[in-house]
Amino acid sequence: MTEAFMNTYHRLPLVFKEGCGAVLTDIQGRSYLDFTSGIAVNCLGHAYRPLVKAISEQAAKLIHVSNYYESDTGNAFAEKLINVSKMKKVFLCNSGAEANEGAIKIARKYSLKKYGEGRHNIVSLLGSFHGRTITTLSATGQKKFHKDFGPFTGGFSFIPAEIPALEAALDEHTAALLLEPIQGESGVIPLSVEFVRRAAELCAEKDILLIFDEIQSGLGRTGKFFAHEHFGVQADIATLAKGLSGGIPVGVVLANEKTCEVFEPGDHGSTFGGNPLAAAAGLVVLNKVSDPVFLSEITELGNYFMDSLRSLNNKHISAVRGKGLMIACDITLDAWTILEKLIEAAQDGQEGLLLLSAGPKTLRFLPPYIIRKNEIDRGLSLLDKIIGD
Ligand SMILES: Cc1ncc(COP(=O)(O)O)c(C=O)c1O
Repeated sequence: MTEAFMNTYHRLPLVFKEGCGAVLTDIQGRSYLDFTSGIAVNCLGHAYRPLVKAISEQAAKLIHVSNYYESDTGNAFAEKLINVSKMKKVFLCNSGAEANEGAIKIARKYSLKKYGEGRHNIVSLLGSFHGRTITTLSATGQKKFHKDFGPFTGGFSFIPAEIPALEAALDEHTAALLLEPIQGESGVIPLSVEFVRRAAELCAEKDILLIFDEIQSGLGRTGKFFAHEHFGVQADIATLAKGLSGGIPVGVVLANEKTCEVFEPGDHGSTFGGNPLAAAAGLVVLNKVSDPVFLSEITELGNYFMDSLRSLNNKHISAVRGKGLMIACDITLDAWTILEKLIEAAQDGQEGLLLLSAGPKTLRFLPPYIIRKNEIDRGLSLLDKIIGD
């Protein structure tokens, strides 16, 4: 461990040196099953060969050109994104928060140009998480993230995910509704079908833009390319990041017919956005997650995972929930203590297990899509033992 970093993360005492598939190895040579995928990033696992090959080959050719020019790989990536997402145009950037900033800017300009001043509000949900920049924190409906950092960007409000609150909130001052189809950071909480359908209906009726933040839930994680497809609705704008380039930083704003011409030259930009290295990696991931067979394997693995977790019949585990490989459960114990105990297991020569928390008594599982059933079995049996103890 080093003292060189600012004290921003509550870290576990592990230093990794390499990984392969769903297994990470620390500098002492101990192995850990990775049920976190770097928080939904390494979706194809560690050292996935086609990804390593694409990144290495691209690095040997061209790593970066400025956005004054295009690159062949950047263009192929943008076109593939449109093709897979069925949206109209993309803006490429480097992270989830940056993608959400872009989406918010599009919504504000769309509304201003069409309706004039005073229709700039963005409505989002209590319990939501949309990023750590000042504006995406303003869009985040959790008080704990707002402490100490005000004043925030104005024009944001939060509602519970309930239809009466939605109907009251979407008014003549609203530019957009921003939703995570399944709230990840606050505990893998899916929205109800009725709520999302009513939201889509009202947004269409009032010309309020419907933005889906798919940064954690998108890209096949729930067994469909976008999680909002489970609800049978369409986005005006969708954002992706995290796993899109398998571990290389990336973010994307996808716009539909209605919103794709809002930005004009000079409106927005990002030095690294569309970087050929991230694009080459992104093409590998998109080739995988655009395959319906691969998506159905994610659904099947997710069902296997949730059934196995339930059939542990561990009295400390309840409320197993999720879609595909975006899974959580509640526990009667302190989640952080369990995370610590799971890594301590590796000190006795066993395999350790990496998990995430999502709240003080909630465990979150975001394993890579290439996880094997026997790895799920091994991880859950260790969890059962540690929680049982
Ligand atoms: C739903 C959602 N939106 C936005 C973000 C922010 O993404 P980033 O950390 O890449 O800025 C996250 C990160 O966890 C997220 O889960």
